[in-house]
Amino acid sequence: MLFATASFAAGSTLAGYHMKVDTSDIKSLQRGARIFVNYCMGCHSAAYMRYNRLGKDLGITEEVLKSNFMFGTDKPGDTMNIAMRKSDALGFFGIAPPDLSVIARSRGVDWLYGYFMTFYSDPAKPFGVNNLQFKDVAMPHVLWELQGTHKPVYKTVTHKDGTEVEVIDGLEQVSPGKLTPEEYKATIHDLINFLVYLSEPAKLQRQKIGIWVIIYLLSFLVLAYLLKNEYWKDIN
Ligand code: HEC
Repeated sequence: MLFATASFAAGSTLAGYHMKVDTSDIKSLQRGARIFVNYCMGCHSAAYMRYNRLGKDLGITEEVLKSNFMFGTDKPGDTMNIAMRKSDALGFFGIAPPDLSVIARSRGVDWLYGYFMTFYSDPAKPFGVNNLQFKDVAMPHVLWELQGTHKPVYKTVTHKDGTEVEVIDGLEQVSPGKLTPEEYKATIHDLINFLVYLSEPAKLQRQKIGIWVIIYLLSFLVLAYLLKNEYWKDIN
């Protein structure tokens, strides 16, 4: 049970990017949901989630949902779909932005953390950015205003046969963003927390119910023990 969540991460993950999720932190989930709606839903849907469920789980009132989370014609019972057509997306990016409902499960938390931390300037790319975790990604760095821009720092590696190649050794900040590096990290933390919630919304309820189940089982244990003593007292 303890290891079940760690096992579904897929693909190789950059070293040094590790994040602890806490989906019981409702304030963090609310902030993450806001980032998701404002920065991601221009291109990505979350088609397995309904706005009213989001409101109920995260304690967001219907008025706030309507004014801050939903788009013009959406109704509270609608799923979090987007207006962009697949054919348009193919034209813009050469690939349709995938639905993000279960991305936290398919990629894993650390993969996502590495992804959002390692966009860097690369003039050879259509959007001028590349990514250490997802090489040649077709997504622009949509949070660049918050994070600022980064450039790669290279080092020379000599192969056994004597050939020298330049490889990226790390990233260096070029221009500052609206957020400090610490604040940006916290923002990404909230966003990924939200993506984890999104990929398994029932987890919140399951954990709440789980505590009561354990309490019930423990009190039943006491009861069963007393009952056993009562039944066996004449024999012992
Ligand atoms: C301007 C459109 C656009 C916006 C806005 C955008 N993305 Fe993307 N995203 C893309 C495209 C296009 C791809 C596919 C990239 C590829 O496969 O090369 C992608 C890919 C991804 C992937 C990798 C999916 C995979 O293949 O596993 C993740 C994760 C992701 N986006 C998350 C986000 C999040 C979170 C936000 C909001 C902070 C966001 N995106 C905002 C266009 C966008």
